Amino acid sequence: MDKIRIRGGKSLHGSLHVSGAKNAALPLMAASLLTDQTLTLVNLPHLADITTMANLLSQHGVSIHMNGHAAEGGHTGRVVELSAGTIASTTAPYDLVRKMRASVLVLGPLLARCGQAQVSLPGGCAIGTRPVDLHIQGLEQLGAEIELREGYVHARAPRGLTGTRILFPKVSVGATENLLMAATLARGETILANAAREPEVSDLAHCLVAMGARIEGIGTDTLRVIGVDGLHGATHQVIADRIETGTYVMAAAITGGDIELIGGRMDDLTAMIAVLSKAGVDFEPTDRGFRAARTRRPLRGVDVMTEPYPGFPTDLQAQMMALMCAAEGAAMITETIFENRFMHVPELARMGADITVHGASALVRGVPYLTGAPVMATDLRASVSLVLAGLFARGETVLNRVYHLDRGYERLEEKLAGCGADVERIRGEAAA
Ligand code: UD1
Repeated sequence: MDKIRIRGGKSLHGSLHVSGAKNAALPLMAASLLTDQTLTLVNLPHLADITTMANLLSQHGVSIHMNGHAAEGGHTGRVVELSAGTIASTTAPYDLVRKMRASVLVLGPLLARCGQAQVSLPGGCAIGTRPVDLHIQGLEQLGAEIELREGYVHARAPRGLTGTRILFPKVSVGATENLLMAATLARGETILANAAREPEVSDLAHCLVAMGARIEGIGTDTLRVIGVDGLHGATHQVIADRIETGTYVMAAAITGGDIELIGGRMDDLTAMIAVLSKAGVDFEPTDRGFRAARTRRPLRGVDVMTEPYPGFPTDLQAQMMALMCAAEGAAMITETIFENRFMHVPELARMGADITVHGASALVRGVPYLTGAPVMATDLRASVSLVLAGLFARGETVLNRVYHLDRGYERLEEKLAGCGADVERIRGEAAA
């Protein structure tokens, strides 16, 4: 298994290209199931999760053509054509779903197009229980009959789905996306109230509109969908990854550096930018994206609470915690979206961090330095927080279980090294 070795203490300077957003690409790929015509997605990131979704879709009968060449403008993203001419299977098997929770996003499209779907329950997950009850309740409200048997969701709607008003009791990105896709082919009008407003949801909605769907209220918490008889092919560019962008902003901040994020969108990160500005980071738009620099001031501790968009993203909480370890003063970091999302705390503590957890809050007291150590983490964002800590730490940090990082960060070590970090991947056997 690969490892990543970091020798800390170098401040990062330069520029890097932000990849297409993983969390936008996954639902967009699932949307290809809604039509028998070709959906072309541009700016797809090269990531393990994208491959998992591609494997899942192929066994449903989607033919997938990937074009590995860089698109114009130095974009590293590839172009993929997805054609679901006929659906070969409406079952999403356990072996694929257990690898990636986002597999559940095929449920809504399969049900809407074929009148049935069998999708394995995703099961436990490292960051809390993460149920799918909101997805199921919403589909039932659209008229689906749903049974849970032998670890599978068995959904049927032999006479099609019928639009209605669905009020989500809790904001859920995945449930909003599943219901939005299903509602495009339902009879009549569907209102999704208390819908997630994440930019990835809006990106999906824009793509569905390009495919012929009728959706109003994009970007708000109330989506109105007027069902249509069928969708057609389209070409859609995946938005830039705001979580990847935020992660590299924090890499610049923790090392006292200055990085230009090419393709980065400040508008998608207003909560993070407000918090980091208070912490001493400067931001400036550029022709190609924006710059983040922490060259003029020391880092200061700031309190943060994760919230649904447009609040501070839970997917940047672990990185923020690493950053606050390097700040003057203290920071209270509160996680409100997921239980059990502090697995990075004991690993940061092994590097010398001073963190006390009380329930959903962690009190981080800044320390003058961290010390490199062998570390590992059990999820994607926790892993990358240890990379950030390693960039700041004295000495050498070796990150194990790099496959977590590879699920969500494209060429992480190359992008960091391109800005002057001393970081390298140690491949397979050499790393064993
Ligand atoms: C998506 C993102 C993930 C991010 C999360 C929150 C993708 C592929 N993943 O995950 O990176 O951390 O949004 O921004 O886009 N919940 C229920 N019942 C449900 C569904 C969710 O109780 O049926 C709860 C979850 O346990 C969690 C909260 O709702 O506490 C938010 O989860 P949700 O927004 O659904 O996350 P995902 O879509 O799985």
